[in-house]
Amino acid sequence: MIAVIDFGSQYTQLIARRIRECRVYSEIFSCYSLPHDIPVDKLEGLILSGGPGSVYKTDPRRFRHFFALHVPVLGICYGMQLAVQLHGGIVKHSAKREYGRAAVTVKQSPLFVGLPRTFSVWMSHGDRVAKMPRAARTIASTDTTAIAAVQFGNIYGLQFHPEVRHTQYGRRIINNFLTRICKAQKTWSMRTFVAQEVRRIRDTVGTEKVLCAISGGIDSTVAAAITTKAIGRNLYGVFVDNGLLRLREKEEVRTALSRRLNLRIIDAKKAFLKQLRGVKNPEQKRKIIGRAFITIFETEAKKVKEVEYLVQGTLYPDVIESGKGVVPSAVIKSHHNVGGLPRKMNLKIIEPLRMLFKDEVRDIARVLKLPSSFIERKPFPGPGLAVRIVGPVTEQRLRILRDADHIIREEARTLKKYRDIWQIFAVLLPLGSVGVMGDKRTYDSVCAIRAVTSEDGMTADWVRLPQDFLAHVSRRITNEVHGINRVVYDITSKPPSTIEWE
Ligand code: XMP
Repeated sequence: MIAVIDFGSQYTQLIARRIRECRVYSEIFSCYSLPHDIPVDKLEGLILSGGPGSVYKTDPRRFRHFFALHVPVLGICYGMQLAVQLHGGIVKHSAKREYGRAAVTVKQSPLFVGLPRTFSVWMSHGDRVAKMPRAARTIASTDTTAIAAVQFGNIYGLQFHPEVRHTQYGRRIINNFLTRICKAQKTWSMRTFVAQEVRRIRDTVGTEKVLCAISGGIDSTVAAAITTKAIGRNLYGVFVDNGLLRLREKEEVRTALSRRLNLRIIDAKKAFLKQLRGVKNPEQKRKIIGRAFITIFETEAKKVKEVEYLVQGTLYPDVIESGKGVVPSAVIKSHHNVGGLPRKMNLKIIEPLRMLFKDEVRDIARVLKLPSSFIERKPFPGPGLAVRIVGPVTEQRLRILRDADHIIREEARTLKKYRDIWQIFAVLLPLGSVGVMGDKRTYDSVCAIRAVTSEDGMTADWVRLPQDFLAHVSRRITNEVHGINRVVYDITSKPPSTIEWE
């Protein structure tokens, strides 16, 4: 096992993910973990993440124990600076901050076996190593950073980020660390992951009945499939019609899942809409929805009787955006199933996919042989159309958005690159706009189209949709949807925007 120590980096899960891609098992630990938190008998190596801190601002000696575990260590960015500072080197703030692409030149080292001498890497730092520890060797440099990688004993450090896609050969570097330096065993696969989660769920719940929150999307379906493997008919799927669904969604979910699952469909439209009445603030909406879901699950648990656990298909981006990673981070938005949960709950949560990204879940779905219609389903957020109606949610605005969304999704399937699109949907803006239809003045709503590509939902780019397609969709929406007289196209990536508008 490789332990990834999280110092508050945005990229910690990406490190774990790259390790998984090399078929090695890893776990993430907070930088505040104590020595006995880490199972040293299984430990093959440590990777120290980057982080927003500076090693000269807070005393780094409290992290000394990570270097006393007698396994190879790879420090990335802050992790490298920590290793250097704790071994007699000096790290200083640099006037020349370095963000983005840089060309690195490497020397001979087990880390760089099989790589060209120069390649492109991703930097993101304001501090740099000013003096090396004794016996340390510089193994890479860039034009602006003389010490871009170090090696001393079995400690390695990289100033750049091998885990991000923009770093060429990043995965190869991580693989070299795992195989050549740690001699880690390559035993991890999606199959072993499923087996491990099945065991974990079985050990946790025993012979009890369990509820599973079902949305009809891939995450909750995969979570349910794994749980079914563990406990069979003791799993009760609960699908909530919260009134924020897309056109005919409930019927589609019923058809797709009622044969696979013990499925309960709950009509809670009224309750959700009542609680959302007049609410404009996106975070408030998300929290209301998160809480309303839990109230329903708790009621259902009482009906099924003797239910202690609720399974959710939560993914890592839900966790990190809600600021609930291993080390607390900024709240970007409270995902309904994480940041939107009430403080006090009667059900205990089980989340087999909590540390994975969507495309990894798709791989699991393939391993579990789920139909491709699930695997290719585009993500749809739990808070549904409520976070696509900017401003208060009303029955009428839901109807308008549902109709526009239906047209966009219907047309999108005709696109050649439909499979490459992460999501394509409509957003209803709280704006009136003047139009002219059949010689009459109209004053109706503006609808935005959002289409993005993404690998994992953490970053995204807007899709360069064909102009003819946009023209056609705009025409259909303004002709067919009563209440919309203007259509605009969202051309922002994430960051700086997010995918959903709220
Ligand atoms: P954002 O808008 O944060 O979205 O860029 C990233 C991905 O997450 C989905 N999303 C959610 N999914 N509950 C979910 O189940 C939520 O509260 C939620 N908020 C956003 C979003 O659709 C996109 O795929």
